[in-house]
Amino acid sequence: MHRDVEKVLYTEVALKERIAELGRRMTVDYQGKNPVFIGVLKGSFMFMADLMRTIDLPCEVEFMAVSSYGNKSETTGAVRITQDLDMDIENRHAIIVEDILDSGLTLNYLINYLNGRKPASIEICTLLDKPERRRAQVSPKYTGFTIPDAFVVGYGLDFAQRYRNLPYIGILKPEVYQ
Ligand code: PRP
Repeated sequence: MHRDVEKVLYTEVALKERIAELGRRMTVDYQGKNPVFIGVLKGSFMFMADLMRTIDLPCEVEFMAVSSYGNKSETTGAVRITQDLDMDIENRHAIIVEDILDSGLTLNYLINYLNGRKPASIEICTLLDKPERRRAQVSPKYTGFTIPDAFVVGYGLDFAQRYRNLPYIGILKPEVYQ
């Protein structure tokens, strides 16, 4: 597994430090607001688990699962909800938690969808942002790291469902996916 990684982009320590900074900011920003954190499965599971431990506030955690129609490189932007929220977010402060913002099509769809539930506010927290690939306009309030257009895996992110369990984020060797 590790030998398929060309370069480690963010070590466990670097991730931990950056996530603690995000958590401190959110703890200040959401004081007294009892926010709902909405993780988008599967990629966000590890980030969500670590982020939650840095939030020093009463809050709730939810998960949704989505899948894009067609394969990723030819996506039309249509997103199918495969697991919806269990709770009503009307008048609640919602924060969508993602591992990566790439074309923006998933989050653009989700923001519109969740806005239909009339939350008091809705913001995005993404661990990674890959702006070079953007096709839909999305403005995350909280971003861990802005990254170049490379094939990243680990810390929840997969290639063909593998590598999610790497404790760091690395760039996959091209020969692995070509
Ligand atoms: C990834 C990621 C986002 C989406 C971002 O999910 O978790 O949901 O892609 O890409 P976009 O900005 O181009 O829409 P993926 O479809 O790989 O599923 P996964 O979370 O189960 O790995």
